[in-house]
Amino acid sequence: MSETSWPPAGCALVTGGSRGIGAAIARRLAADGWPVAVNYRAGAEAAERVVAEIEAAGGRAVALAGDVSDPAAADALFEAAETHFGVPVLALVNNAGISRDNLSPSLTDDEWQAVIDTNLTAAFRFTRRALKGMMRARTGRIVNISSVVGLRANPGQSNYAAAKAGLIQFTRTAAVEVARRGVTINAVAPGWIDTDMTADVNRELLDAVPAKRAGTPEEVAACVGFLVSAQAGYVTGAVLTVDGGLSA
Ligand SMILES: NC(=O)c1ccc[n+]([C@@H]2O[C@H](COP(=O)([O-])OP(=O)(O)OC[C@H]3O[C@@H](n4cnc5c(N)ncnc54)[C@H](OP(=O)(O)O)[C@@H]3O)[C@@H](O)[C@H]2O)c1
Repeated sequence: MSETSWPPAGCALVTGGSRGIGAAIARRLAADGWPVAVNYRAGAEAAERVVAEIEAAGGRAVALAGDVSDPAAADALFEAAETHFGVPVLALVNNAGISRDNLSPSLTDDEWQAVIDTNLTAAFRFTRRALKGMMRARTGRIVNISSVVGLRANPGQSNYAAAKAGLIQFTRTAAVEVARRGVTINAVAPGWIDTDMTADVNRELLDAVPAKRAGTPEEVAACVGFLVSAQAGYVTGAVLTVDGGLSA
């Protein structure tokens, strides 16, 4: 795919695009020329702010409500995005994620299930739905937002670690299955990024990060932007860490 014909005639869907890393990814993809569907669960105002920022910068975006852990959400959101923009979703970023931290001996069934449903099962369902249109178009980009916690232990996050590690192996396997159709599927594994999710974490722990600082949502979005670009057409099944050296 040459750079002049990129982005293709499609739109992008970013789950959990109303805040933090997802909002930065939505802004980045819009700046790269994609019409962007900004999904959110509860924060309608925040999602509308992201849409307004994108439009003020000359891009196209729409805010779409939907809880990704709902089994019906993928069909509903794809239909809404494709109807709004009039083109298929050819870039999907599975970014929506939650944490429900607890040590394993005390972890409840609800804490386990909520994290698996939102961080892993939803990404599978959205990927399955995306592949229909992408395989037909013989092009497409899927990026799954995993975590360094999917690569190395972090006490208190066994549910989150299981979901994020599962997401990495799902990414690799699905990537290999569809590689000859021109569709790439990759994972990005951020370390400590300054967002609402990490607002309450003790900053003294940053000492363990070789870069001695937290990352920004924009630094993650830049990596996603690359993986969604025409230039990344031969990159698939990869896991790109964005962690200031934490997992090195
Ligand atoms: N921050 C970090 O240090 C870090 C590190 C590694 C990986 N990550 C991963 O990066 C992703 C984004 O994290 P973040 O730090 O930007 O989180 P965040 O600031 O807490 O934002 C989470 C976003 O996901 C949305 N969301 C949550 N549950 C949802 C659901 N069931 N359906 C639809 N949207 C939902 C939220 O929408 P509402 O506001 O409407 O609920 C919000 O837009 C997550 O997958 C997270 O696990 C983060």
